[in-house]
Amino acid sequence: MTIIYTTKFLYKYFLKPILFIFDPETVHNLVINLGQQLGKSKFSKKLLNRTYNSNHPTLSQELFGITFKNPVGLAAGFDYNGELTQILGSVGFGFQSIGTVTFSDYEGNKAPRLVRLPKSKSILVNKGFKNDGIKKVLNKNIQNWEEAYQVGISIGATNSPDCTTPQSQIEDIVNSFRFLKIHRLYNKLAYLELNISCPNVLGSGSLADPNHLKQVLEGIKKLEIRKPLLVKLQLEIPWKKARELIQIMIDYKVDGVIIANLLKRRNATLFEPKELDTVRFLKGNFSGAPTKDFSNELIEKAYKEFGHKIKIIGLGGIFNAQDAYEKIKRGASLVQLITGMIYEGPQLIAEINMGLEKRLKEDGYKNIKEAVGVKSIRS
Ligand SMILES: Cc1cc2nc3c(=O)[nH]c(=O)nc-3n(C[C@H](O)[C@H](O)[C@H](O)COP(=O)(O)O)c2cc1C
Repeated sequence: MTIIYTTKFLYKYFLKPILFIFDPETVHNLVINLGQQLGKSKFSKKLLNRTYNSNHPTLSQELFGITFKNPVGLAAGFDYNGELTQILGSVGFGFQSIGTVTFSDYEGNKAPRLVRLPKSKSILVNKGFKNDGIKKVLNKNIQNWEEAYQVGISIGATNSPDCTTPQSQIEDIVNSFRFLKIHRLYNKLAYLELNISCPNVLGSGSLADPNHLKQVLEGIKKLEIRKPLLVKLQLEIPWKKARELIQIMIDYKVDGVIIANLLKRRNATLFEPKELDTVRFLKGNFSGAPTKDFSNELIEKAYKEFGHKIKIIGLGGIFNAQDAYEKIKRGASLVQLITGMIYEGPQLIAEINMGLEKRLKEDGYKNIKEAVGVKSIRS
């Protein structure tokens, strides 16, 4: 515990001020390289495991046939080429989504692709699915990972001018799932994630149309994929439409809905207004604190209506254990994050797990499952 708080202190007062001088993508690449090196060393993994990895039985649960050692996962968008699978379990994560990966590779949207808004606790993201493509990610990049750590892969449509119509996007996505199904790593992957909600790509949003969602799910169904499937929803979606999409997911036996993706709106009340002004002319959408209330509201609504039919994975603006617990109490069985870790440091995962354990005990729950949705009365 002392080491966790020491890391927190060192990150906040020494490391972060240095890292934040540099361009966010440069820092991200550095972190990926460091993570890869640490992942190769048995000694560093052992050390990290001892310090940050808690395996408290209260936090462990089985969902759609998979045992999650704890409910905290890394969201799609950080390890987009699957290069950190060896190490992230040792930092305390229970699971991660690689990606979003697409059938063809993409060098990313025009820079700047990432801009920090520290006062607003947010990041302007405009990567547009920068990734090596599914073949390279699966054949070359992914390293082995420990049994107890669950790795899934997020799949989206290739971001290119010839893949903007719903039909071409559906075909592209189905091609990725087809490739996955015959790959040697297919059996080892815990779940597959379908991303229909990225706002930073060409043809964005077209698969979030009910008919197109049906078509893409039909295409995946025909492949007879026998893996848990999760679908990631848009954040700012009217409830009427979200309800329709979730019902379609249930009809197609989708196991989980991920709530939700990045925030599009640039409403000054959600940000530090001067900071928002600095990115006025830049493209992209926002992560972190400004997403939190939208995501919490959507999680609650989804749980009230569909909690007994589909699992919810909640994310958006988790910066501490209380933020994670709030999403769980509103109906999320699992949570994911990215931005919180960037602002608070890598020890955040261990802090959240410890904080959840403490809160569950205080509230008299023997297992995390008992706390899911207690704040949302199901209809
Ligand atoms: C740098 C960055 C890249 C992202 N890329 C993706 C992506 O490729 N696919 C995706 O589904 N979500 C992506 N997201 C969205 C996150 O997965 C998540 O939905 C959002 O950031 C809210 O969580 P957070 O506040 O914990 O960051 C990205 C987010 C960030 C910060």
